[in-house]
Amino acid sequence: MTIPPSRALESIRGSAIRDLLTVTERPGVLSLAGGLPATDLIPTARIAVAAQRAIADASALQYTASTGVVRCREAIAHLQNSAPEHILITHGSQQALSLVTQALVDPGSTVVVDDPVYVGALQSFQAVCARIVALPITGDGANVAELETRLRSGLRPRIVHTVSNFHNPSGVTASAHTRIRLAELADQYGFLVIEDDPYGALRFTGDPIAPIPGDRVIRLGSASKILAPALRVGWMQAAPSIVGMVERLRQSADLCGSAFSQLMTADLLSDTGWLADHVDRLRAQYRVRATALTDALDHHLGGRID
Ligand SMILES: Cc1ncc(COP(=O)(O)O)c(C=O)c1O
Repeated sequence: MTIPPSRALESIRGSAIRDLLTVTERPGVLSLAGGLPATDLIPTARIAVAAQRAIADASALQYTASTGVVRCREAIAHLQNSAPEHILITHGSQQALSLVTQALVDPGSTVVVDDPVYVGALQSFQAVCARIVALPITGDGANVAELETRLRSGLRPRIVHTVSNFHNPSGVTASAHTRIRLAELADQYGFLVIEDDPYGALRFTGDPIAPIPGDRVIRLGSASKILAPALRVGWMQAAPSIVGMVERLRQSADLCGSAFSQLMTADLLSDTGWLADHVDRLRAQYRVRATALTDALDHHLGGRID
């Protein structure tokens, strides 16, 4: 029996994420293709405590608001220097990407992405049959010079998507100038920016660069890389009007996220002393491992790689 897919599904080319995760699961493979945290660095003991505390309240096993458990929105808002009405909690930040796209992008509307692009973003944009324009990323992040040239020639994107810190897959971090210019262009030409930022807290050295400023920015964050992907807690931070649109759409997708998981995450994120120590340890460990890897690649492959 041949069942034809919908036009939207047909427009999603390949199953890059599935292929990538299949390889990752093979024993002996250290895959750098996906953004998987090291399993041995997941804080299992502290997560077990959070689970015990969450389950002590039966509401942890009940449906919850489509915008997320209040305590978790408050904990995230506090970390982001924001307010709970700007936060909507999703099933990982990938769901935020998918819902925001469905809420705001019509078939044929233009979405600008970095080239190379985070494959999960590409799939979300393909799923709504967007017209995708990819601009080659620079050493300073999203290619704002090329974007400006294209805007001047009439390009009118609905959304520009970028991963501002430690870009997946290129590793680039956007400079302060790129961030500010992107916000200025968004104001001037009326597009929205999705600042996809699951990795920002994991910087090895130096101070963080301020996020992309302005009301036209939808920031996506995640507990996956600092706590555990299996919690499936991500969030979007945006103007309350956009939060409201995504809230409405979210009800058709899955009604709400997991109260249990969000209560655990709230417990972990609001334990700020523990969280700061944990993230410091992650940064130190990842730094040691990254250095070992790059040294080994240099040693064994020498000038054969960049
Ligand atoms: C750039 C980027 N955005 C979003 C995600 C999705 O993460 P999650 O849905 O686990 O929050 C990933 C995962 O690797 C990613 O690399």
